[in-house]
Amino acid sequence: MPPITYPPELEAHWLHLAQTETRAGSDRDTLRRLLPDIQRLADGFTTRRPDTPAAPYLKDTRACMAYSLYFAPQTHARLTHILAELPPFPDTTKPLRILDLGAGTGAAAWALLDHLGDRPIALNAWDHSRPALRGLHDIFSALRRARWPQATLRTTHAPLDGLAAHDETYDVILMHYILNELPPDARRLLLSRAARALAPNGRLVICEPLVHDAGDYLRELRTQALTDLGLHLLAPCPHEQPCPLDDACHDVRTWQLSRALQMLNTTLRRDLRHLAFGFLVLSPATPPPTPTFRARVVGSPTQAKGQTLCPVCCSNGRIHRIQLLHRDVDTPGRKALRKLERGQLLTLESIQPLGDPALFRAILAQK
Ligand SMILES: C[S@@+](CC[C@H](N)C(=O)[O-])C[C@H]1O[C@@H](n2cnc3c(N)ncnc32)[C@H](O)[C@@H]1O
Repeated sequence: MPPITYPPELEAHWLHLAQTETRAGSDRDTLRRLLPDIQRLADGFTTRRPDTPAAPYLKDTRACMAYSLYFAPQTHARLTHILAELPPFPDTTKPLRILDLGAGTGAAAWALLDHLGDRPIALNAWDHSRPALRGLHDIFSALRRARWPQATLRTTHAPLDGLAAHDETYDVILMHYILNELPPDARRLLLSRAARALAPNGRLVICEPLVHDAGDYLRELRTQALTDLGLHLLAPCPHEQPCPLDDACHDVRTWQLSRALQMLNTTLRRDLRHLAFGFLVLSPATPPPTPTFRARVVGSPTQAKGQTLCPVCCSNGRIHRIQLLHRDVDTPGRKALRKLERGQLLTLESIQPLGDPALFRAILAQK
């Protein structure tokens, strides 16, 4: 698969706005002037993260620009990774109804719209930040004709609690980097309200950062979704049995840094190439049975002479350490094995125990 990239048109929109805001002469100058705002936001979500990050950080246009130039490319790439592995979105006679909860300036929604191509879409972007929704509306108006000609947009300026009294249903509900900003009770409540707002074939796409101090709340929400709410899992797990992992399930995926992020990172010097995140894709509909044995890479793959080794979470609900021999695959397959990432989903033709009971020999299914 070619590296995932951020559409330059999205970045150009924010750069252009930021250039006007900062009265800079070039992109580099714009980013230099916006750097303190970006650094403050970036630190707020990582090194200096408060216990409850409830402060309204998207409080004005400038903050929205800083947020969008730093975080939106990463968000777009994360969503693109997740969406690439899902089965196609079901056909609908009417426009596909999408609800983006905590939409911010829209980065997750744009990745979904880009993924869906030019099918008719009715997007409802929901957030309590008015400047963020204004920014989201402006970028949609500027790029709609060229990128999402069949999409319509409605914004809902309201707290997430307002979902309790909202009686519409949706084919897709997005919650990208929202739950970690809520206390545990509010997370559970939002999950149950979102589940209630799903159409029978709907999909709920949740993606969260790895916040070690917050505990493994995605595992708890997975249990709630499968047991109390009667939802099914489309991803990431290849099974619906209790999660067998000792640590929090997460992906570590790579992408091609956007041009502005490359410029910013000459000063910020963060590890932006590796996107570490957890996710769940849930649906009220029973997924069709998969005839193949599927396995998700749940640890860092290691490369040895002629082989790739990694722990995988399997369709049978268990963790196995597998050995994939490079001689079993063609040249592109070998290249792909050398670049295998934590979180990738493998389809296996066979898996056999080796002499070492902790290690299994696996053969990938032919495409
Ligand atoms: C980390 S940002 C993520 C934005 C967007 N989903 C994205 O991925 O780019 C979290 C968003 O949730 C919104 N938010 C947080 N708590 C909220 C609440 N209680 N009600 C409504 N919006 C909320 C914030 O204003 C912000 O836009």
